[in-house]
Amino acid sequence: METTKLQPLFNLQELETKFGRNGDVANGHKANGLTGWDILSVEQFDRDKLGYIFGRAEEMREMVNRVHGVDLLKGRVLTCLFYEPSTRTSASFIAAMERLGGSVIPITQGVQFSSVSKGETLADTIRTLEQYSDVIVLRHPEIGSARVAAEAAGIPVINAGDGPGEHPTQALLDLFTIQEEMGRIDGLKIAMVGDLRFGRTVHSLTKLLLHFDVSLRFVSPEILRMPLKIMNEVRDKGLNVRETHDVADVIENADVLYVTRVQKERFSDLAQYDEVKDNYIITPELLERAKQKMIVLHPLPRVGEISPAVDSDPRAAYFRQVQNGMYIRMALLAAVLGKA
Ligand code: NCD
Repeated sequence: METTKLQPLFNLQELETKFGRNGDVANGHKANGLTGWDILSVEQFDRDKLGYIFGRAEEMREMVNRVHGVDLLKGRVLTCLFYEPSTRTSASFIAAMERLGGSVIPITQGVQFSSVSKGETLADTIRTLEQYSDVIVLRHPEIGSARVAAEAAGIPVINAGDGPGEHPTQALLDLFTIQEEMGRIDGLKIAMVGDLRFGRTVHSLTKLLLHFDVSLRFVSPEILRMPLKIMNEVRDKGLNVRETHDVADVIENADVLYVTRVQKERFSDLAQYDEVKDNYIITPELLERAKQKMIVLHPLPRVGEISPAVDSDPRAAYFRQVQNGMYIRMALLAAVLGKA
């Protein structure tokens, strides 16, 4: 077929100067050490990388407060592929991308309307979506699914929760919130309460805390204790750690009370869920015994673990934690796309 000689629509050199080269990733530009990275586990982060991301997140907050958004990721496309329900993680990734000038393919509520429902494999779905996008955020019910996706994809994949496995971006925003609210991480007494067995957020947060000098208190029913593998990692690090069934044992000394939802969807026997679902309820009366300078965190959604009467207590930091999620995800998107 003969093609007619077309007048160019774009001055590509000018555009490259203005917005940077598409392909910073492919070109292996490694300015921040995170460019082109898949973010699959918190194990990829050391104190240096945490410091870098937290610094960028603070800049993002400043920028949003002053001018709402910028063009840093103009032209870049994020696909949000969620096989499990989500409010905060999906919405904050979408907001993060849009505030940086990029756009989003949201497959968040509609996986049942996509070809997954026709039996397509995760790898094929990922290989398709990467043709349209520059980065993929994936939430999936199976442990290890993010790694499978990352192996199939040539673009960065960010794990937004792989079943009861990990939720690295949540742990980054949790730790950032602790740093911002308490002014430090080293030296703190951190108590985690609730479903420590299936809760992926506490798995990731505990692993991140191994980089710091903290005391850990794990409060859960017997059947929802922190997995042995993670307990062993904590002990190998030599951290001061104790397990208990009773929140009363930790409330007076905790600097951070990290409360979690019992993960109903991971129970094969719902009678067992019913037995433990209301074990811990944080109330204003309980908080009367807590320090004046401490914070209550929760990854949300809550389904009764924190009484709404606690919300007006200045120590209730869970909605400030939600906002930090957007800044952390802005920092991560900019970093993996080679723009920070
Ligand atoms: C958490 C999750 O999905 O693991 N939610 C979130 O991402 N903020 C916690 C939960 O669902 O209980």
